[in-house]
Amino acid sequence: MKQKILIAGAGGFIGGHLVKYFRDKGKYDIVCADIKPLEYWFQLFDNNKNFSLDLKDYENCLKVSKDIDYIFNMACNMGGMGFIENNKAECMMSVLINANLLRASIKNKVKKYLFSSSACVYNSQKQLKTFVPGLKETDAYPADPEDGYGWEKLFSERMCRHFYEDFGLETRVIRYHNVYGPMGTFDGGREKAPAALCRKIIEAVNKDKKKIDVWGDGKQTRSFLYIDDCIEGTLKVFNSKFYEVFNVGSEEQVSINQMIEMIEEIANQKFEKNYQLDKPKGVRGRCSDNSLIRSKLGWDNKTTLKEGLQKTYKWIDEQIKSGSNIDKFTKSH
Ligand code: GDD
Repeated sequence: MKQKILIAGAGGFIGGHLVKYFRDKGKYDIVCADIKPLEYWFQLFDNNKNFSLDLKDYENCLKVSKDIDYIFNMACNMGGMGFIENNKAECMMSVLINANLLRASIKNKVKKYLFSSSACVYNSQKQLKTFVPGLKETDAYPADPEDGYGWEKLFSERMCRHFYEDFGLETRVIRYHNVYGPMGTFDGGREKAPAALCRKIIEAVNKDKKKIDVWGDGKQTRSFLYIDDCIEGTLKVFNSKFYEVFNVGSEEQVSINQMIEMIEEIANQKFEKNYQLDKPKGVRGRCSDNSLIRSKLGWDNKTTLKEGLQKTYKWIDEQIKSGSNIDKFTKSH
């Protein structure tokens, strides 16, 4: 009997890559669920069971988790700063997905459940300066996370812990730090900085423009995790024996201006910057500290930001040039 895996949020960015990973292994029955209509899924494979439905609904959670061994819950209503800062209530509604999938996991005797949390849970007071020390897992408390989205993630992390302690459900929790790469959104309102800035530079090259818009003053910092490393880290945590939370991120902290310089090198062209101080900026500085996952699971980020940006830039450039089927990556669904 093949093991049965449910990927919740299979139509999204990390979810789509996870589906591909398991499909390439060829030894699993894969059930995929996402609220988006199938034509908008970033990656869609015919030989899986694909459900377009709302996992905020308990009955739907029961349906897709029936006879499932393992759940990867990547489903949530999210995006980059432009989305989460302006849709706090929508982001918080994702708590229903996690609550109902956890309940259904108990009912359907699921063996293991992974929850995708976020660096947005970290205490904002630790992220007030540029080039902050890396955030350790313990830095989420005392709680003062990103408003809306971060509170939902922190609460859902906590629910996973108590479902383990009270009901014995094996839960795993990962705090992802700004994951980027091919097959993700690059326009339309949900895009994050790496894809957005690659797209802006590609468009400037194509239209022979000399200036690009940048949100904030460009001095704010982040660390960005390439999707291949993200998938590898996800599997490491999932297959481990630990129910405590782990960072899965990069320790390569850069300012947005430094990231733009890397993209300019890839494009082989420099641009003037129009700094838009009224746009969503989020925290001033953020970076992952990977000490815990390195020491306990032997995982670390491998891809440099420059290498990851080269692949992302190339992919976005190809999408824009071909122009076909790009609605799903450029419109907010
Ligand atoms: N999105 C975007 N688009 N951000 C830009 C742009 C642009 O054109 N130009 C500059 N930025 C700046 C933002 O103002 C912000 O300061 C920084 O780049 C990073 O923005 P995002 O990539 O959108 O989000 P984030 O790093 O603040 O948060 C993201 O990562 C978290 C995990 O680390 C979000 O996706 C969160 O949902 C996620 O939890």
